[in-house]
Amino acid sequence: MIRIISPSMLSADFGHLDRDTRMIDASAAEWIHIDVMDGVFVPNISFGFPVMKAIRKASPKFMDVHLMIVEPEKYLKRFVEAGAGLVTFHYEATADPSAAIRMIKEAGAKAGISVKPATPVEVLESLLPELDLVLIMSVEPGFGGQSFIEGSWDKVRTLRRMIDRGGYPTLIEIDGGVSASNSAQLFDAGCDVLVAGSAVFSAPDPKAEILKMLE
Ligand code: DX5
Ligand code: ZN
Repeated sequence: MIRIISPSMLSADFGHLDRDTRMIDASAAEWIHIDVMDGVFVPNISFGFPVMKAIRKASPKFMDVHLMIVEPEKYLKRFVEAGAGLVTFHYEATADPSAAIRMIKEAGAKAGISVKPATPVEVLESLLPELDLVLIMSVEPGFGGQSFIEGSWDKVRTLRRMIDRGGYPTLIEIDGGVSASNSAQLFDAGCDVLVAGSAVFSAPDPKAEILKMLE
């Protein structure tokens, strides 16, 4: 069984990005989650390549890049070149998801698609054979620190059934409002990767918090 924690660097202290990244590097988290926002697809702007480069310098861990941008095709290759092991774009942000998946794979990374809370996972049925990962947003994308949307449980279970029925190796990741209070249930419901921002970085002991999420 796969149980991965991917701390979202959006909640890190950018004044001490090097310190916070090294702290995650020394933790039980296997991945590092990078949230890229363009102010168009979501009503917020986060960071881009230079910040990603700084994070890469401080940790060799697997970089899980979550693109909340319009026209992701324009930048997929550059994110892979910047060190992304996985690039996830939004289903709602492109007219040709298959082409975007191909571009990511040709550039040498794993490919993921994310769905917003209002987008049913069923739209991904025909794409599952090509996808390394599906990211279910359990909050409206754009900001950390929001509450988990309860309707996400059904989406996880439905997607788990779809993946198991087809026998695909596709991973399920969930992002938004995840903490030690729901992590065990989320893994049990069929998630493979949990993203957590505020729960990790606002904890008095982030490394202990990550361990707690894996219990
Ligand atoms: C929100 C981002 C998330 C965010 C999660 O749009 O995709 O990765 O950082 O933050 P928390 O864990 O605080 O909900
Ligand atoms: Zn994210």
